[in-house]
Formats: sequence, C-alpha cells, structure tokens
Amino acid sequence: MRLIGFPLPSLFTIVISVIGRTEPLRYYAEKIGLNIGVAIKETYITGNNQTHNNLVRTEFNTIVCENAMKAQNIAPAQNSYNFSAADQVVNFALQNQMKVRGHTLVWYNQNPSWLSGGSRQSLLSNMKYHIEKVMGHYKGKFYHWDVVNEAFADEGGGYRSCPWYTIIGEDYIDSAFVYARRADPGCKLFLNDYNNSYINDKSTAIYNKVKKMLENGIPVHGVGFQCHERTSKMTPELFGRIKENFDRFAALGLEIAITEIDIRTESGSNAKVQAEVYATFLRVGMSMPKFTTFMIWGVRDQDSWTGAEQNALIFDNSFRPKPAYDSLLAVLKYPTSLLPVDRRAHYLTQLGDLVFNPANNTVRVNDPLLNRPAVLEMFDLRGARMAKVTLRANYPLPLSSMKTAPGTAVIKAPGTTMRRISVVGR
Ligand code: G3I
Repeated sequence: MRLIGFPLPSLFTIVISVIGRTEPLRYYAEKIGLNIGVAIKETYITGNNQTHNNLVRTEFNTIVCENAMKAQNIAPAQNSYNFSAADQVVNFALQNQMKVRGHTLVWYNQNPSWLSGGSRQSLLSNMKYHIEKVMGHYKGKFYHWDVVNEAFADEGGGYRSCPWYTIIGEDYIDSAFVYARRADPGCKLFLNDYNNSYINDKSTAIYNKVKKMLENGIPVHGVGFQCHERTSKMTPELFGRIKENFDRFAALGLEIAITEIDIRTESGSNAKVQAEVYATFLRVGMSMPKFTTFMIWGVRDQDSWTGAEQNALIFDNSFRPKPAYDSLLAVLKYPTSLLPVDRRAHYLTQLGDLVFNPANNTVRVNDPLLNRPAVLEMFDLRGARMAKVTLRANYPLPLSSMKTAPGTAVIKAPGTTMRRISVVGR
C-alpha cells in the first residue's frame, strides 16, 4: 500500500489501508514499465482546469496532444510556427514526470496550404522543413513520434490518396522517417494507423511496408495501432484475433503501441462489454515482447471525437471512473498478466517469495515451503523471456550469471511476485 501525502503514519492513513484504497492506473503501470497515457485537449491545460489536470497527472504517466501538434495548428504559415499551446502541454507533462508522444508530423489531414501543395520537390522540401522545425523544437523531450499518420487506404490494401502519395509517391514515407531520424536521433519513430488491429488488407499493407522499410534500412521503430473500436468487437476470439496480427509485427522486431484507443458503446451493449474490450486490448499488448504504450484517446466521454453519446472513454462526464477504468486497473494490478496466458495458472498456484539484493545484484527464491530447486526466469519489460535458470531455493544467484545484457528486466520465480530490476552487467 502506497501512502501519499502523509510523512508519518496517522490514524487516517491506517483507515485508508483498512478499507483498501486503490492506487491509480499510473502507479501499477509504472511497476511494470508501461506508459499509460491519454490524449489531451490543450484547452484544459492552458485554461488551467484543475479537476481535469489533477486527474490526468494522477492517473496517467504519458500524454499526447489530441490536436495541438497537427500542422494546421502548429504551422499555420511557413514563417510563423506557433508552439505556445503545445508547449504548455509538454511543460505540464514534464513537470509531472510524464512522457510525451508526438502526434503527428506527416498526415493527409489538417494541413495548411503552404505545406502540402506544389511539385514533388517542393513537397519533399516542405516536409523536411516541417519535420526539422517541429521535432527540432522538442528534440530530446519526446520518446515517440507518429512520423506518418494514416497513410493507407481503408479498403483494398493500397495507399491513401493524398498529395504526399499522389505527388511524391510511396517513398514519401521513407523520406519522412529519414528526415525524422536526423531531426531527433533519440526518438522512436512510428507509422500510425487505424483499422489495423486485426489481419485485413489494410494491416497487411502496413506490414508489407514496414518490412520493406526495415529491409531498406529506413529507421522505423514501431507501428501504432490506434484501436478506435466498438463493443460489437467483443467475442471470445477477440484476444486471439488481435494477437495474431500484433505477433507478425513483433516478429519484425518492431515496437507495438496502442496509440488512440476508444471503444464506442453500441446500442444493445453496455459498459461491462466495453470494459472487456478495453481489457482485452491491454492484455494482448502486455503479452507482446515489445509493448510500451497504451494511450486512451481522451479523458471523459464528452471529450471524445466520437461524441458524448458513444460513451467511448473510461471516465464519465463528471470525471468518475467507469467499469472500463476498473477493468484496465485490474489488468495492470495483476502482474502475471504480463506473461503469456498459458503460463499464468502455473505461477498462481504456487507459493514463494523473491528477494532481490541490489547491493550485490543477486536474487534468491526465499521459500521455507519449497526447499527444492526453483526455476527463475527473466523477462524483458513486455514479457519476452530473456533467461531461465534453475537455482536452489534460499541460495543467492548473481544476476550476472544469467548472461543478459544490462538494462531493466523483470524476474519471476514460481509463485512469487514479479520484480522489476536493473541488471548491471555480466
Ligand atoms: O480549432 C477549432 C476551434 O477553433 C473551433 O471552435 C471548433 C468548433 O468545432 O473546431 C475546432 O477544431 C476542431 C478540432 O478537432 C478541435 O476540437 C476541428 O474542427 C476538428 O476537425 C478536430 O477534430 C479532431 C480530428 O482528429 C481532426 O484533426 C479530433 O478532435 C481528434 O480527436 C481527431 O483525432 C484523430 C487523430 O488525430 C488521428 N486518428 C484518428 C483520430 C480520431 O479522428
């Protein structure tokens, strides 16, 4: 139990403990290294809406501007970029130890006329200028950028018809990523789209494109799955349908991010079904080897681009958490959900305790009931196994002997709670 705001235990904190106060989404997400985020309407931040801002900073550790960084807003004219609204959101995020995703640099929509008109050469040079200007302004501050957004046609597996594609050609995407890499070499670069959660013509076209980009040395690091979905998608097969699609992108070594999720509540369904859909997307993500980010596209139902009547988000119009919130919290609180499904039951049925000693970088399974060799496994932050060793219960094992690269990892032994650790070297 984390006790916030009371330097010493008091009667009040004890009462809170007894009634089992629940920690926010952010608290559990950070335990497992997940970026749980929300799209922000900048007017709430710039207007200093305290109720909104307190909820955002408490529940989320990541922010994306819903609109403030779109070209039409940030670059109304080539010689007058206006970063003020976006800057306020970024400052709010950084002051509250939140990460920022950039959205978006090259899009078919919301472009000022100076940016997306002209010849192939002028379009490429405008694109380069815009990317350098915006990414340069935020250099070193963002961990992800949606470099190209919604480049694919809804039907038929082709590219979306837009000036970038029609005038430059398919390679506008490659150019954008190369310019972006040069503008902020430390930032992960994403190709983001919607209607790509399952295997279909569109997601296959995206898959083929990123595969080709990787083969050609184009610096793409991840695919964004927007996941604007509906409650009618909830079937027993949903988990598997998403996973079989995400798996093929992960097999390319790409990071997977859920970048804009919202779930419309269709007539005949209810908030419980919506909660199941949200939870299913999160569970699939958490079963992926490189899944870092789960972003919800807005705070309250009435803030959603889908319209208040769709009830698509996880807070109601009075900022109260809905069942969808509870379902996400439950997935985050349940640490074994990081593991592939087939291994979870096994871990849950056993007892034990895992003790990590950072002083000498050793770990031991401390279990008086289990005085026999135990299996200790190490996973990367999204659940892919990095190492597996058998050790005797109660004997310290140097982590260096697990022969993994230095970095952050999660260790787990049967029946124990997962521990996030830093591996300091071989
Ligand atoms: O800025 C004007 C404002 O001055 C005016 O008072 C108001 C009146 O309606 O309109 C304002 O602009 C609107 C803007 O949202 C801010 O509310 C635009 O007309 C409207 O088109 C814009 O919609 C946004 C849409 O993208 C288009 O940019 C939505 O809020 C935003 O949620 C939506 O987000 C997109 C992602 O960027 C990409 N993926 C799909 C997702 C949903 O469509």
